[in-house]
Amino acid sequence: MRRPMVAGNWKMHGTRASVAELIEGLAAQVLPGNVDVAVIPSSLHIGQVVDGLQSGLIMVGAQDAAVQAEQGALTGEIAAVQLVDAGCKLVLVGHSERRLLLGESDQVLNRKFAAIQASGLTPVLCIGETLEQREAGQTLEVVGQQLDSVIKAFGIQAFVNAVVAYEPVWAIGTGLTATPEQAQDVHAAIRAQLAKEDSEVAQGVRLLYGGSVKAANAAELFSMPDIDGGLVGGASLNADEFGAICRAAGN
Ligand code: 13P
Repeated sequence: MRRPMVAGNWKMHGTRASVAELIEGLAAQVLPGNVDVAVIPSSLHIGQVVDGLQSGLIMVGAQDAAVQAEQGALTGEIAAVQLVDAGCKLVLVGHSERRLLLGESDQVLNRKFAAIQASGLTPVLCIGETLEQREAGQTLEVVGQQLDSVIKAFGIQAFVNAVVAYEPVWAIGTGLTATPEQAQDVHAAIRAQLAKEDSEVAQGVRLLYGGSVKAANAAELFSMPDIDGGLVGGASLNADEFGAICRAAGN
């Protein structure tokens, strides 16, 4: 049985004051014991969140890491070992906002993936198609290529300690959620692609869905056999809403 996971990606949101408020709201949530819950604040607020969430029930992650694991001369970047030192457990890699808006290539994000894993952190590999690609019937091809780039570079064993998040770009921040069936179809294809390399590894990998997940649609999405939880953007900025999504994953 795969343990469900719900992670809140706060993206480029938050001030010290609003983060303090969110921490307080999260601490007040009744969270299910059978779900891995994580929040992923901006790098600037990682320390505040790690210190603030003292219970240890919620993991903290980072939204990005440098292409090299170790500290060094790389102005503006944060090394994976620094994220470990700060108390992080996981790191997003390949989010569509970085692929599409910041031009991160497969090559760059593969280096990040390797650096994250080498430091003992769990990469959360984000993959997903644009609306144009979906309408052209290219969804499985695009997602398959994004996944294949990591499989080719590091082999299937890299997925023993990795999470994959399927995030259709057209569903991110748009209020348009993939239907549970649409998401399940892609998740099943992702798992099948991994299973071609190693079925045991494929069965163990957590596949999260992301794209306008909210309390109102979470239970239905998480009831699908290959959806093991969610990567939540906007709704994770509201502690009560996020708590409800986490509880939906536990049921
Ligand atoms: P929304 O939940 O705001 O659509 O964002 C999803 C996402 O990009 C999470 O990484």
